[in-house]
Amino acid sequence: MTTGNRAQSFNTAAPQYAANRPSYPPALLDAVEELAAHPLKNAHVADIGAGTGIASTLLHARGANVTAVEPGEGMAAEFRRGNPHIPLVRGDGNALPLATASADFITYAQAWHWTDPAKAGPEARRVLRPGGALALWWNITDSTVEWVAEQEARLHAFFAPQREAAKAAGEAAKATGEAAGSTESTESAESTGGVHPWSDIPGLEFAERRIPHTRRVPLATHLANLGSHSAFLVLGEEKAAAFLAKERALLGTRFPDGWVQESYVVHLRLATN
Ligand SMILES: C[S@@+](CC[C@H](N)C(=O)[O-])C[C@H]1O[C@@H](n2cnc3c(N)ncnc32)[C@H](O)[C@@H]1O
Repeated sequence: MTTGNRAQSFNTAAPQYAANRPSYPPALLDAVEELAAHPLKNAHVADIGAGTGIASTLLHARGANVTAVEPGEGMAAEFRRGNPHIPLVRGDGNALPLATASADFITYAQAWHWTDPAKAGPEARRVLRPGGALALWWNITDSTVEWVAEQEARLHAFFAPQREAAKAAGEAAKATGEAAGSTESTESAESTGGVHPWSDIPGLEFAERRIPHTRRVPLATHLANLGSHSAFLVLGEEKAAAFLAKERALLGTRFPDGWVQESYVVHLRLATN
């Protein structure tokens, strides 16, 4: 299993992704505007790794002129189905298909970790106008919540073999969290209290914010959300279904009314060019 396979795995499950993944709270975009000292309204925003459009939709609703960039065919198709009014270009963060100094903001919602930062960093700086802002964020499951921490421990144990194999293949940074955690942290590497894969980008100084939020969803949505993470998508249906069936039983006891309160903390990093 390579990082490339995992990065592309979403394309097989784009409708599941769109229907079940959590969105981001309004306070996140408030923080983006505040740290950038620039409003999103009328700003040119390039949303990279736009996926099915969860972040692009919010940015558009703030009045931004959004251009979405997405490498995957399945994700791009789902984006276009749900957001026919937002332009989308196929491409990736390592070689942006965008003009130099054309963006006020570049956003990566749970997608930066799929890039090669040595290429994506200079590319972001090229496409941002001077003074423009690069905003990276991840929806991290809140492991201060007891049942979340318990689930993360189960995930961590379940994905240990994949983590070891990835480490051996030299993909430790991405594998750590992708294989270990629950919900988005299975991609972003923060699930078990660790840090998401991160490296400095020469010339940029990042400010950070943490923004908590929750949502209450049917257990089936929670499980479909979990199953839409790359760690499960590359695992094979049978193994994934077995783990999710056990989760259904455990969480069914924990949440007898069938509704799960998911808790997240969005980790935001923003730097101006
Ligand atoms: C976890 S999804 C995030 C989607 C969306 N931004 C959101 O908030 O729901 C990660 C996305 O990154 C895309 N991706 C994979 N490799 C990429 C790369 N090198 N540059 C940009 N995006 C990439 C995937 O196709 C996928 O759509």
